[in-house]
Amino acid sequence: MRIVLVGPPGAGKGTQAQFIASHLSIPKISTGDIFRANVSGGTELGRKAKEFMDRGDLVPDEVTIAMVRDRLSEDDARDGFLLDGFPRNVPQAETLKKMLSEWDARLDIVLELVVDEEEVVRRLSGRRTCTKCGKIWHVDFDDKRDDICDDCGGNLFQRDDDKEDVVRHRLEVYQEQTAPLVQFYEDEGILAGIEATGSVEEVTGRALAALAPLESA
Ligand code: AP5
Repeated sequence: MRIVLVGPPGAGKGTQAQFIASHLSIPKISTGDIFRANVSGGTELGRKAKEFMDRGDLVPDEVTIAMVRDRLSEDDARDGFLLDGFPRNVPQAETLKKMLSEWDARLDIVLELVVDEEEVVRRLSGRRTCTKCGKIWHVDFDDKRDDICDDCGGNLFQRDDDKEDVVRHRLEVYQEQTAPLVQFYEDEGILAGIEATGSVEEVTGRALAALAPLESA
């Protein structure tokens, strides 16, 4: 199955992507994670992306699209994938459609995680991520009192772009550039809106329910 997750910063895309990709045994491809790995690895790609990420702006399309094309060309993505954080504007969505059609493929579904702005700010201010396994935690909701991952023992870190002023800017960028994708995929007939408030398990249940008809098809 080929899936895209869309939603504002902090909607829970990364959190849900972990569960959905593992349930369907498909790779989870997060452009944010790939950029962050390149920034910490000090690569040329990371150097190009960092200044945009630090401000909360989108990394230029030519950089992002080339990176996604490379990743989707890998063997494990041939029969399915879950994209988290791409596409993020209409030109990226049009390019993805064209890229997939070159490979005789198409997206099956786009899941839009719907959540209000106040909840997003609350979620991002408490987010911590594991340096070792990438698991996402929340200081309050997961009652994390130490900076150690309960799953693998790795150290947890707070993302630089989770400072409140950068979060507010990321939300503006989302409204201006990414929100139009909802109409784009509605017109394509593949959009499913998921209410993303409630517990992580409740949201996963709603997402899997939206995917169920495609799994049995
Ligand atoms: P990216 O990493 O994609 O960031 P984002 O879209 O802003 O999304 P986030 O990762 O902040 O949030 P999320 O929805 O994944 O929420 P999470 O699951 O962590 O992109 C970062 C940057 O990279 C961009 O700003 C841009 O510069 C660049 N970039 C990336 N892709 C690009 C592209 N295609 N083009 C150009 N530039 C690109 O959850 C948040 C917190 O809430 C966690 O602590 C979690 O534990 C908690 N939580 C989740 N669900 C629940 C729940 N149901 N109840 C309570 N808490 C919850």
